[in-house]
Amino acid sequence: MTTVAGGTGADYTEKIPNNVDLHEDRRLQRALESWQPNFLSWWESMGPTLPTQDVYLRTAVNVGREGWAHFDHVPMRDYRWGIFLAERDPGRRIGFGQHMGEPAWQQVPGEYRAELRRLIVIQGDTEPASVEQQRNLGATAPSLYDLRNLFQVNVEEGRHLWAMVYLLHAYFGRDGREEAEELLHRNSGSADSPRILGAFNEETPDWLSFFMFTYFTDRDGKYQLGTLKESAFDPLSRTCEFMLKEEAHHMMVGTTGVDRVVERTAQLMVEHDSDEVAARGAIPLPMIQKYLNFHYSVSLDLFGGETSTNVANYYTAGLKGRWSEDRRKDDHKLADDAYLVDALIDAGTSKQSIGQTEVSALTGLNTDLRREYIADCQIGVNRWNKILAEAGLPQRLKLPHVAFNRKVGAFAGIEASPDGEILSADEWQHRSGQWLPTDVDKTHVRSLMRPVHERGKIASWIAPPRNGINGKPFDYEYVHLA
Ligand SMILES: [Fe+2]
Ligand SMILES: [Fe+2]
Repeated sequence: MTTVAGGTGADYTEKIPNNVDLHEDRRLQRALESWQPNFLSWWESMGPTLPTQDVYLRTAVNVGREGWAHFDHVPMRDYRWGIFLAERDPGRRIGFGQHMGEPAWQQVPGEYRAELRRLIVIQGDTEPASVEQQRNLGATAPSLYDLRNLFQVNVEEGRHLWAMVYLLHAYFGRDGREEAEELLHRNSGSADSPRILGAFNEETPDWLSFFMFTYFTDRDGKYQLGTLKESAFDPLSRTCEFMLKEEAHHMMVGTTGVDRVVERTAQLMVEHDSDEVAARGAIPLPMIQKYLNFHYSVSLDLFGGETSTNVANYYTAGLKGRWSEDRRKDDHKLADDAYLVDALIDAGTSKQSIGQTEVSALTGLNTDLRREYIADCQIGVNRWNKILAEAGLPQRLKLPHVAFNRKVGAFAGIEASPDGEILSADEWQHRSGQWLPTDVDKTHVRSLMRPVHERGKIASWIAPPRNGINGKPFDYEYVHLA
């Protein structure tokens, strides 16, 4: 493995590769080295189940601009999970809130300790959760290329766990170490100690779900990391900045994964001049739409309630900023500003309707972030619709209404159709099967999930990718199975 001395390069001679001079802090190094075997046994018991010899993986070796990754076949359990923070800007100043203009914090201020720890734990909890959700997918991968991408996402989510655990160990003393242990004890979908956020306890039983998850739910991660990258707490900011780099690949897997499913379905629809592609071993468009509806709506919930005083306080304190904070043309304090958030008007009455209400800009920050996210989600939908249009098909995919299938926030108490029409519980009961995957849909999708582990081959329900990984062709031997 490449060792890059000094600068922004990672030190791979250490047991835990890092660019934080871990060897200079023996206590911290020992603490993390004692967490390492726990991480590895978690990976062995909760990580990917398909036995492999090695996988063509990307490993981070440098956080600088000039190429940061190294590609090679590595046995997955020997992957060098490490600690990498983006380069430090010694002159960095806080960009928002009541401490705006002050130097960024290199230590955790006592008064914000509990809140910062909480933010880090919540982010940290999602990383291993997704590995757990995806652990059985290897057995049904549609190609070696896809199998490799799954494992790449998995090892990097493992690294993101390392990133958060490093912060907990380095800056939060004993409670931080306890939280780091807890991150390995909670498990996705567990009845006794589930993961913290709802979407991370849902199962990812098939590859359509995986692509929708990496498109919609990893994208939530992108937006959360984007707000933490603005944090006044500089080590958190630098950690998230580097994680965002890795996250981009996960979303590429989702975007192009759905591209390829839509492409294959469109191809068969045109070829046979019929919408009925299920019998031909593909996924019908209405089913793709239902999976989209599900993953999008549970991901919207991850942004929390439309209004939140906690988030207002985080912002004012400088803990968590807005998406693209520095590109916003306001005072970055928002104390006197107002904002329109989605709301249920006349809730509980016969006049109840979906509309908007004005709140202070600070309490509306969750809505602000959710809207940035929604606009980003729309870009993928446009892409998929372009594939349909280019195939000459009139059908289109769309994002459902923000009130559809919500379990968190203003619309948690009502049912709404994908068009935003409020429904009675009865109507919902009758019609939700048109909008969300039914058992029949899930059974069909699962019936297609037969593994294609032969080099250069691809499953019936998905088109091959346009490009391979790191300049390699599609038929490259990305994974050697055991
Ligand atoms: Fe992640
Ligand atoms: Fe991710």
